[in-house]
Amino acid sequence: MDKFIIQKSSLKGEVKISGSKNAALPVMAATLLTDGQCVIKNVPDLSDIRTMVKILECLGKEIKFEENTLIVKKSSKKLNPGFIAPYRLVRTMRASFCCLGPLLAKRKKAKVALPGGCVIGPRPVDLHLKGLSQLGAKVSIENGYCVAGGKDLKGCHLYLGGQFGSSVLATANVLMAATLIEGKTVIEHAACEPEIEMLALFLKSMGADIEGEATPLITVRGQKSLSGTTFEVIPDRIEAATFIAAALATKSSITLTGVNLKHLTAVIDVVKMIGGQVIETNGACRVNVPSKLSPVNITTFSYPGFPTDLQAQFMVALSLASGISLITEKIYPDRFMHVAELNRMGASIQRSGPYAIIEGKEALFGAEVMASDLRASAALVIAGLAALGKTEVLRVYHIDRGYEKIEEKFSKLGAKIKREKQ
Ligand code: UD1
Repeated sequence: MDKFIIQKSSLKGEVKISGSKNAALPVMAATLLTDGQCVIKNVPDLSDIRTMVKILECLGKEIKFEENTLIVKKSSKKLNPGFIAPYRLVRTMRASFCCLGPLLAKRKKAKVALPGGCVIGPRPVDLHLKGLSQLGAKVSIENGYCVAGGKDLKGCHLYLGGQFGSSVLATANVLMAATLIEGKTVIEHAACEPEIEMLALFLKSMGADIEGEATPLITVRGQKSLSGTTFEVIPDRIEAATFIAAALATKSSITLTGVNLKHLTAVIDVVKMIGGQVIETNGACRVNVPSKLSPVNITTFSYPGFPTDLQAQFMVALSLASGISLITEKIYPDRFMHVAELNRMGASIQRSGPYAIIEGKEALFGAEVMASDLRASAALVIAGLAALGKTEVLRVYHIDRGYEKIEEKFSKLGAKIKREKQ
């Protein structure tokens, strides 16, 4: 297991943002809808992507992944049985559950391991199952697997909202399945995230008939078959905003390239309230940060709201603001594992249910801290860059799941960060 050794740093210069992990993963699952060849460009080289490659290989695909381009085609090897996504792979990455919809629609049978709990709180899959059942699938849970059969699938009008609003991957599952299911499917309360919009555009480029992507009402008319395609993944808005949070916490000004600011409106709004500036210049984006940060109140929502995947990183910046901030977590009310670690570094954060009250401090102090999940790990790296002295972030395999070459990118910005074997 690797760890990061980090010293207080000031950042400057330019960083290139990678393709979006959360956009690439559902699109990879969507290749199960066709026997044609799919070429997917701008795919970040991450352990989650490599896990999805292994799952697709189990499901009969032959894959080449070089220089951020994935070429996915039907394997010539005879597969037996070819519809099972095994637990040993699914448990490491929940997004693999979105193979369920495409397998069901294309192969009429799917057996995908249930992903189980996760450190950021309970993560049910009831909406996925409800949506696919309403499309006519026979769904059952057998020995830790979700087994779905699809002899009588038919398009329908369905509502996909849940207790916490829309679901990104449930929308992906139902949307993908509907592209090959006879008749018209209308998904109400669909997720509007840019990653779902991109998935819809990818499916359209395969020949799917979809209207209303990027809105809560998506209409799909099922086709007999879909073809292969070539497509480029959108920039990773979460990675981009993680660097913005690092600029805020270290009170540095940096430039991001390869970023789509249209996907970051809520984040930019918060950055402005904190006192920073985000300026678009010739396809790049300049982030200017003042020496004093203002406290703000942030509530996480589904898109276009402030993303839960940035809550931990912005909490670090607010720990160094001049005053009291409040973060309300509306998507995962238990997503606060990073609070205790940040407090060990001198932050003053009190958690009560879905709320975190953050009293800004003059400084944070280096410590040995433990990464608990992907975004919390990014937050600890940012805290290390902002803190006085030396910070060791242990268990950085979490961060390798979702940030491409993070220490290289930070080093290029002048950060003092190095990776060591633990
Ligand atoms: C996706 C993202 C993840 C992000 C999350 C919320 C990917 C690969 N992952 O995860 O990084 O944190 O969106 O923006 O894109 N829910 C249910 N029942 C369900 C499904 C979800 O109640 O069947 C709840 C969840 O517990 C959560 C909320 O709905 O409270 C949103 O979750 P969801 O959008 O489904 O998250 P994911 O798609 O798994």
